[in-house]
Amino acid sequence: MGTKMELRDKIALCEGKNFWETKAFPEYGIPSMFMCDGPHGLRKQENPDTDQGVNASRPATCFPAAVSTACSWDEELVGKIGAAIAEEAADQGVGVFLGPGVNIKRNPLCGRNFEYFSEDPYLAGKMAAGFIKGAQEKGIGTCLKHFACNNQEYKRFSSDSILDERTLREIYLTPFEIAVREGKPKTVMCAYNKVNGTYCSDHAQLLTGILREEWGFEGLVMTDWGAMHDRIAAFRAGCDLNMPGGSNYMVQEVLAAVARGELAEEEIDGSVERVKKMVHEAVEALKNKGSCDYEAHHELARIAAEQSAVLLKNEDGILPLKEGAKIAIVGPMAHNIRYQGAGSSHINPTKLNQPAALLGAGVGVREAEVAVVFAGLPPEIEGEGFDRENMALPAEQVKLIEEVAAANPNTVVVLFCGAPVETPWADKVKAILYMGLPGQAGAEAVKNLLYGKANPCGKLAETWPLKYSDCPSAAYYPQRDGQYREGIYVGYRYYDKAKVDVGWKFGFGLSYTEFTYSDLKIDGERISVTVANTGHRGGAEIVQLYIAPPQDGIHRPVRELKRFAKVYLQPGEKKEVRFDLDDRCFAVWDGTWKVPGGRYTVLVGGGPDQLMVAGFIDKAGETVEVPVWQRGSWYENPSGYPSQEEWERMLGRKYRPCLPRKGQFTMNDTVMDMKDHSLVMRVLYWGLKRTVARKAEPGTAEYRMFLQTTAGSPLRSLQIFSRLNANFFQGLLAMANGKYFSGLKLLLKKGSID
Ligand code: BGC
Repeated sequence: MGTKMELRDKIALCEGKNFWETKAFPEYGIPSMFMCDGPHGLRKQENPDTDQGVNASRPATCFPAAVSTACSWDEELVGKIGAAIAEEAADQGVGVFLGPGVNIKRNPLCGRNFEYFSEDPYLAGKMAAGFIKGAQEKGIGTCLKHFACNNQEYKRFSSDSILDERTLREIYLTPFEIAVREGKPKTVMCAYNKVNGTYCSDHAQLLTGILREEWGFEGLVMTDWGAMHDRIAAFRAGCDLNMPGGSNYMVQEVLAAVARGELAEEEIDGSVERVKKMVHEAVEALKNKGSCDYEAHHELARIAAEQSAVLLKNEDGILPLKEGAKIAIVGPMAHNIRYQGAGSSHINPTKLNQPAALLGAGVGVREAEVAVVFAGLPPEIEGEGFDRENMALPAEQVKLIEEVAAANPNTVVVLFCGAPVETPWADKVKAILYMGLPGQAGAEAVKNLLYGKANPCGKLAETWPLKYSDCPSAAYYPQRDGQYREGIYVGYRYYDKAKVDVGWKFGFGLSYTEFTYSDLKIDGERISVTVANTGHRGGAEIVQLYIAPPQDGIHRPVRELKRFAKVYLQPGEKKEVRFDLDDRCFAVWDGTWKVPGGRYTVLVGGGPDQLMVAGFIDKAGETVEVPVWQRGSWYENPSGYPSQEEWERMLGRKYRPCLPRKGQFTMNDTVMDMKDHSLVMRVLYWGLKRTVARKAEPGTAEYRMFLQTTAGSPLRSLQIFSRLNANFFQGLLAMANGKYFSGLKLLLKKGSID
């Protein structure tokens, strides 16, 4: 029998020791555990006691970002990446790493889209599940994030994601559900934002009702860094671990709540047990760690980058290039490859090559048989903490592509970006090879792909609209609150239904070989098809299965992805692929999952324009009432943007924005918001800008992120990050609200700055 744990210690165990560690309590036999980012490789910082910025960390393998790996549609491959990161975690003494991120790509401008897999919930969920399984087989824990509806960076610490229950379930929770049910992550990270008015840290329906009771999650929930809103409500809601350290004051609040009888000790005990379990399992896994081969991981990163590349265009079969062809190498990213995203997922790679160095010197723009332009989004316009302002490539790069294409009819563009960009120049070039953010072996992968040593097989995991204004949420994204007016019509679900032409469709991707489909059969709910490689090179095909539901009842997308499989085939080789469907493939959310009766069409093929009807499935189904507001609404016939009124009718309530007001500012308000109304906040803002500028170069992604993380985060989070005590912030808050004397009194109180 161990020593009985004191209540104060139990509460303290449920908050971090510092930036990355949990607290050790040797008297109870509880060691400390180290965790770190992230989804695409480890970001282990040497000193967990301080925030050292995001760019200084121990070298680790930088794998392609989720934006790329999603295009591989290869659960096994992402599993291997998960396993490799877990090996490096064990090697560096890390028990849990913070990834994968499975949020839906709601709008192409979200600054953090590169960290997420897809606009489609099924594909996103399957990729996350594959990653988690691979990693956790090594005993190291993963952390599925950011739960939930964290789909914009603008005001990410305090925004309210407002959406109807059907959209929440069918689009935004489904990837988490698949990842939890199939991947069984050891931990889940709750998001910063609110969902329908309640902060995720305090959201009992999300953290307990849905996550644990419905989906059977048995692991631990931790906060995103600084996301804890109300420790007492959070314990009740099932939020176990408050990260990072620095919120000792909350221990006092919880003790007082227990003393008042407002919170039962048993409500804390569950969290304590889950923290202990996570720590003990990690310690065991670290004892039994195996070997870690960083060279082999670099090779895996290359294979992953090759398998994830999407060939968007290849006129006249210009690619692959012929060995010995005279090529000109042009563009900023030939010498400075953009291979990873900016922010907390930033990795210090173990090695890095540049495409220009691997491809050789090249020839001048005039002698070249082919010109290869390396272009993409620079990190300062795409990263964690801020959303993109538009969907264009930087103007100078567009100009360069157009000039090169005008000078050389055989122009190939290699694109590096973490999200879709507008490509008005696409008709002027012969080929486009989209690499996403391909990780540290991106240059090797590009070379192999350009010369045909590797065959591109990726398919887009998100739609590339022709122009940003075509996107259904473009008119109201981002705002202080996330108004999810477009409902379930996210990505291809909208473009298909509204019949809007797009640049490149979800599921699209070319190859250097050809695939032929035959023997398409349907037997009950089993579908089979034979795929043959009828071209001249080995390659992989991604077989996609969509269900087209009946359109005469409750409004539904034209078709939805329900299954997929990837097959590798040598020339002349063929394989049978089989899919089994279940009820969820046909279901809608109507208070619970229900299958509306009617005829469902099963479509199978290698891409959105090659789908063949495999057959029909008639479901007796259940009655799902058509809501009164649906008839004649945008949701039945989407076109352009949904109005606030139509959305409110679907939502069943009015949306009332809650704007910060002087006199009513709270600890949930940010310096950025309050500075326009308060001198003291303007001074603080100026001070924060100076501090941030000492850590990062103004204008860089790191600077923009830090400024948002300080001046843009609620005072309660600033208090945790700064480790200054409550009087200091309460004092500032009182002054911001115009109560100068009481504010000053609090500021000057002994121990305000300790
Ligand atoms: C990010 C998380 C990350 C954490 C720790 C937060 O700001 O949202 O994704 O894991 O920081 O770096």
